[in-house]
Amino acid sequence: MRQLKLSKAFTLMESGPVVLVTTHDGKKDNIMTVSWTMVMDFTPLFAITTGEWNHSFSALRKHRECVIAIPTVDMLDQVVGIGTCSGADTDKFSKFKLTAAPGKVVRPPLIRECLANIECKVIDIVNRHNIVVLEAVAAYLDTARKEKRTVHAVGDGTFIVDGRRIDRRKMMACKLPYGV
Ligand SMILES: Cc1cc2nc3c(=O)[nH]c(=O)nc-3n(C[C@H](O)[C@H](O)[C@H](O)COP(=O)(O)O)c2cc1C
Repeated sequence: MRQLKLSKAFTLMESGPVVLVTTHDGKKDNIMTVSWTMVMDFTPLFAITTGEWNHSFSALRKHRECVIAIPTVDMLDQVVGIGTCSGADTDKFSKFKLTAAPGKVVRPPLIRECLANIECKVIDIVNRHNIVVLEAVAAYLDTARKEKRTVHAVGDGTFIVDGRRIDRRKMMACKLPYGV
């Protein structure tokens, strides 16, 4: 094996699905793109990495709610566009022609065009590492949607699209929670 620059190590690990995170700051809705995500356990708890450099962060910190919306490959240009402009001066729902739909528990909206949406409460912020810990309180899947392939950011401006699904459910049965 050849040595890889340490600064590139994250590109080997990063490729969870790119998600959109909606927030509401008390006046308006906003969306940001997030690829630094982590599933923390089955309960379900998630973490995202973000911080003060984004407009969304103050709404996350103050109102302690968000929605994780899962886009698919046909939405990639919207996803990158949302992640390269700021809600400080842009209405991203209008600019990227996305529909805000009300959730049942939290104030930030679901994104109607996405494959899935997860309403979340912020339960912790680990300032030292810019980690925002989220607890999901409701989740929705658009079962009628034809395009289901999510995208995975490598971190260098390129993306990997979902491929073939491989089944090892029997082999993993002892590790899977009931009903999953
Ligand atoms: C593909 C992609 C992935 C991104 N992932 C993250 C991330 O994980 N964490 C983060 O803080 N910013 C991430 N960003 C950058 C934010 O989405 C970007 O700064 C955005 O403009 C923030 O919007 P806001 O200022 O309206 O909150 C990503 C951007 C792109 C294009």
